[in-house]
Amino acid sequence: IEDLTPLHETTDFPVGVAIDSRETIGAPAQLLTRHFNQITAENHMKPEAWYDEAGNFRPHEQALTMMDFARDNDLRVYGHVLVWHSQTPAWFFTDSAGQPLTTSAADQQVLRERLRTHIFNVAESLSERYGPFGSSTNPLYAFDAVNEVVSDSGEYSDGLRRSEWYRILGESFIDLTFEYADEAFNDVYAAEGADRPVTLFINDYNTEQSGKQARYLALVQRLLARDVPVHGVGHQFHVSLAMPVSALETALETFADLPVTQAVTELDVTTGTPATQAKFIDQGYYYRDAFRIFRAYAEDLLAVTVWGLTDGRSWRSGNGGPLLFDDNLRAKPAYYGAVDGELPA
Ligand code: G3I
Repeated sequence: IEDLTPLHETTDFPVGVAIDSRETIGAPAQLLTRHFNQITAENHMKPEAWYDEAGNFRPHEQALTMMDFARDNDLRVYGHVLVWHSQTPAWFFTDSAGQPLTTSAADQQVLRERLRTHIFNVAESLSERYGPFGSSTNPLYAFDAVNEVVSDSGEYSDGLRRSEWYRILGESFIDLTFEYADEAFNDVYAAEGADRPVTLFINDYNTEQSGKQARYLALVQRLLARDVPVHGVGHQFHVSLAMPVSALETALETFADLPVTQAVTELDVTTGTPATQAKFIDQGYYYRDAFRIFRAYAEDLLAVTVWGLTDGRSWRSGNGGPLLFDDNLRAKPAYYGAVDGELPA
């Protein structure tokens, strides 16, 4: 591992990285703990990850490996995600005969109970093993409560994605998710006297683009007006070099006056292919400018997370290396930009 300035020492907010258990051992773990002080499970805390093939609830082994790793290395854990339209077992939305749940009052009640049970099981299992939330042995301090609930198109007046959750429960599934999660994580399974042990986030992508941003803002304002316990607004920021970095600043500024914290939850910057050294240098400047913006908004930011440790491990690796480190665990210009270090003139 190169002897470089730890990234997290250059910011006033925690810097996180999305991983699975592969990054909890060996050289990747050394690189991780040098530069990052927070982790997100890239996949192993998603709804489907909590169930075995028979549909029984049990924490995913890799989620526990990551929690153990965080506890033992003083890293925070940012949970991802309680409710999503994707990577969710199909049985959530069907009755005992395998038929889709309808919008009848009885079916709606079935889905509300499944939602509540899921959230309470997640909270109970993690607090049983690591102690109550907000205590020193439990590294979980935030959770994406709902993910990607905003529509990609402007065709609906409420601006919401037409998911199974939405089809059956309408917008109320969002309120309910936050209410159940607040009850479970911040009351029932919280350490006594802990002040908001788990910060609950709404999270989405393309929030740097004006249409999605307006729909996202309108939704967050509605939730706050209804006193829904949404504590944080997450910006995934899966961007490319073609996206002006000023758009990231506009996104943060748009939510800055609301009574919520914010987080950059899934940052990566694609270069396009072929990923030449010249493009990696451009990417270095992009990360430099992005992190300068994040530092300017430090007071509004709970954390900034990059969506993967090394280029080859990125979900976007086919689109040019989007992350800070290459597959030999060496710092790219992107790292030097992020720490505001020296880049070629
Ligand atoms: O675990 C299986 C493995 O057993 C199997 O052999 C393999 C074959 O395809 O698939 C593996 O599962 C894959 C999983 O990642 C773990 O690697 C899934 O196919 C694949 O679909 C899944 O992709 C994840 C994707 O979410 C799923 O929607 C990505 O890793 C993950 O980076 C991505 O993360 C999302 C965030 O949760 C939400 N925001 C967008 C972001 C990027 O899409």
